[in-house]
Amino acid sequence: MRKGTKTAALVLAMSMAVSMLTACGSGADNAAETVGTETVDTDATDAGAASGAVVTKTEGVLTFGTNAEFPPFEFIASSGVIDQYDGIDIAIAKQIAEENGMKAAIENMEFDSLLIALENGQIDAAIAGMTVTEKRKESADFSIPYYTATQVMIVKEDSDIAAAADMADRKICVVQGYTGEICVQDLGYPYEAFKKGTEAIMELVNGKCDVVVIDSATAQKYVNDNEGLKIVEDASAFESEEYAIAVKKGNTELLDMLNKVIEAKLADGTISELGAQYTEAVTAE
Ligand code: ARG
Repeated sequence: MRKGTKTAALVLAMSMAVSMLTACGSGADNAAETVGTETVDTDATDAGAASGAVVTKTEGVLTFGTNAEFPPFEFIASSGVIDQYDGIDIAIAKQIAEENGMKAAIENMEFDSLLIALENGQIDAAIAGMTVTEKRKESADFSIPYYTATQVMIVKEDSDIAAAADMADRKICVVQGYTGEICVQDLGYPYEAFKKGTEAIMELVNGKCDVVVIDSATAQKYVNDNEGLKIVEDASAFESEEYAIAVKKGNTELLDMLNKVIEAKLADGTISELGAQYTEAVTAE
């Protein structure tokens, strides 16, 4: 533990240094990984962690919190994978539960409430296309990442916005609490935040804002669904972000269980297949 504290201090210093260099996003990915493995408990539990050690809110059920406003990762469908919930994350959640002989349950809530729900035990894990950030790691532990994304700009087809810097004197819309909001804050531009991605998109479609900053795959879905929009990327302003599942801080038993399944599903191609399947599905709608 003493050793851990020292390492943690060092990592914190490193990650602060790195995050100062980056405009936005998860930043400090390497430092992030160091923090993850530094939790001495990870190794400690590895030795004795049969998945039987996992304690969940309801016995035999893995309760996942999500915010089903984020296609193709989670959305509400007429018949979903778990109840009315469908998407890449929902399919992953179901597989994790099944592979461990459990049932998966979904609790749909505001994105901003997920980490609090974890902390107070309302949910066992949060799966919500959630980007790992240094800030979020202060209140939750994250699984190994299962998806890499980036922020992009959605604009009208005839817009002359071609780079992040072009947003300077334009009206920018983001979704409250998403990393897109953090990115725009970091760039120092004023913006308006909406509760849902669809609300921000409506604002753009109706000509009330000039650009929406949001995650790439979700942006693609909105552009497919709405005439006259296009995506503008700027890799120098928006670095890549990694999605991972969050658990309550210190719940290494559950984290180990999640990591084992994610690792296997990444290795055998299941997760990239799900990605392809759901991007086609949302495109075809
Ligand atoms: N990746 C972004 C973030 O972590 C947006 C996630 C939104 N997810 C959702 N289910 N609404 O902030």
